[in-house]
Amino acid sequence: MTSPTWDPALYLGFSDERARPFADLVGRITVPSPGRVVDLGCGPGNVTVTLLDRWPNASVLGIDSSPEMIGRAVELTRPGLEFRPGQIETWRPEEPVDVIVSNAVLQWVPSHVDLLPRWVEALTPGGALAFQVPANSEGAAARVFRTVATGPRFADRLAAVAASAGPSAAGGVVRPAGEYVDLLARLDCRVDAWATTYQHVLPGDDPVLDWYAGTGLRPYLQALEPERREEFRAEVAAELRAAFPRQPYGTLLPFNRTFVIAYRR
Ligand SMILES: C[S@@+](CC[C@H](N)C(=O)[O-])C[C@H]1O[C@@H](n2cnc3c(N)ncnc32)[C@H](O)[C@@H]1O
Repeated sequence: MTSPTWDPALYLGFSDERARPFADLVGRITVPSPGRVVDLGCGPGNVTVTLLDRWPNASVLGIDSSPEMIGRAVELTRPGLEFRPGQIETWRPEEPVDVIVSNAVLQWVPSHVDLLPRWVEALTPGGALAFQVPANSEGAAARVFRTVATGPRFADRLAAVAASAGPSAAGGVVRPAGEYVDLLARLDCRVDAWATTYQHVLPGDDPVLDWYAGTGLRPYLQALEPERREEFRAEVAAELRAAFPRQPYGTLLPFNRTFVIAYRR
């Protein structure tokens, strides 16, 4: 699967809901006064910038492989905050770092489990590797995408997408929280891990479609010719409306997220 492009404006459509897990993750990091902090897969940078509120004396670097996302992020550059394009698979720090953060990124990186030992090695003693991954590949929305994608109208282009790695593909690439704990504890880290289901109440006519159009639905939409995209969106929208019925107060989207903080001893 080629890497689908990102649309920062679409992604930022739900910026409050998407920023909250970042704040919940970072709020639990107990490294007292980190000097060097890296945000792997920083996206448009709107959450990266908040790391300076938490640690005003830190030097923060955001890295992202999407030209669209990093193009948006660099506009936020300021003293103590820098952004660079790059793949997290090949990222290696010039010097050890005190905190590595990665929020809502590793579900896009099939090899991420193999990268964890290298990131722990990149930490200073007492430093932290902190990541959050959505875990919804078996949720109702991802099942809708796969059902429509493998149905008679779209299977020719989308069956391969439904089967390939990515947060909405069958099985996904995210591991159960316990596997991350086991792996990192065996690397002699002290590990703090938890999982939460956020109960988002979203406004609008098709908010679940809009939510995923900026993230997990992108690989499907981008694999289709423009003229078939609208047909696919319409079919998915109808199925999502049935799976997530609109209520007088909005549409409820339960969303699972796994959090892991590993401290190097
Ligand atoms: C859902 S966004 C999360 C952005 C940001 N961390 C946040 O919390 O808002 C996922 C980001 O991961 C980036 N990404 C995905 N795979 C990547 C990779 N292999 N290397 C670097 N960045 C990657 C994407 O470009 C995108 O900006």
